[in-house]
Amino acid sequence: MRIATLTSGGDCPGLNAVIRGIVRTASNEFGSTVIGYEDGWVGLLEDRRVQLYDDDQMDKLLLRGGTVLGTGRLHPDKFREGIETVKANLADAGVDALIPIGGEGTLKGAKWLSDNGIPIVGVPKTIDNDVNGTDVTFGFDTAVSVATEAIDRLHTTAESHNRVMIVEVMGRHVGWIALHAGMAGGAHYTVIPEVPFDIADICKAMERRFQMGEKYGIICVAEGALPKEGTMVMREGEVDQFGHKTFTGIGQQIGDEIHRRLGHDVRTTVLGHIQRGGTPTPYDRILATRYGIHAARAAHAGKFGTTVALHADTITSIPLEEAVGTLKEVPLLRYQTAQAMFG
Ligand code: F6P
Repeated sequence: MRIATLTSGGDCPGLNAVIRGIVRTASNEFGSTVIGYEDGWVGLLEDRRVQLYDDDQMDKLLLRGGTVLGTGRLHPDKFREGIETVKANLADAGVDALIPIGGEGTLKGAKWLSDNGIPIVGVPKTIDNDVNGTDVTFGFDTAVSVATEAIDRLHTTAESHNRVMIVEVMGRHVGWIALHAGMAGGAHYTVIPEVPFDIADICKAMERRFQMGEKYGIICVAEGALPKEGTMVMREGEVDQFGHKTFTGIGQQIGDEIHRRLGHDVRTTVLGHIQRGGTPTPYDRILATRYGIHAARAAHAGKFGTTVALHADTITSIPLEEAVGTLKEVPLLRYQTAQAMFG
């Protein structure tokens, strides 16, 4: 069998471990060959491919962040226009199965290709942990570890200076990273996109801390968080070609408002892409490797139109449609549990 793989959308620690898992399993268990398309769907459309060998270099990929294949984003319209080119390129390369590794947008594209007759096995990826149908995506643990370490470090400097510290973490649509890092790092308030915040509540929580003799406060904010309507004026962002609103710095704006209302010294740290770079944690290396192994096996078993997924501790295959359409949001109950530790 000849397998093709590609990585698409934002990069994520563990992508290379998935590639390694696919290549080793395809080669060792089935004697199959694997090619990789560069820069996601763009490389597939432009027929830019490389042969992937189960050699020393492949072995070293376990530890390496990013993606050796490169990644990219393609507008859905361009994707649709290119279907005949995609089919021709896959046929020309003799591909029997395509394993795209990506987030909800990539899996949506994968489903569309699958509906158009292309043999697909997807692998869910994102530090945001927002892909439906799977308990955890690789990269999430690494991002939470980075954000937690940042919060740990902010405690001492915040306390030394009697400051309110805001740490803004990734999470455009969902607040999994903020929820977990906030809880693990002992933040005194956490704000997520799923639950619009009231700045007055945040100020109350901070004020209470200072009144009780605490010397500082830490607030963990997901970049996509929004205020309850009518409670705080926000700077307006622009809309990019994929329909995403550009961020206007929610952490800084919350910090400015706290300073204006309470007069406390406030500092904001935006973690940004630091959460996405570098080597994956052991948990993510293992999860990504298991996804890669399972994807190669699923391809050889002809389980097309599916994506691999983690259910409890088992890697399984689910129909692609279960992974797309909506995002896996933080349930209100989980947020309410975190709230018990606010203040
Ligand atoms: O990987 C997902 C994500 O981290 C989002 O949380 C974030 O909004 C987005 O990627 C930013 O990615 P980029 O800067 O590459 O567009």
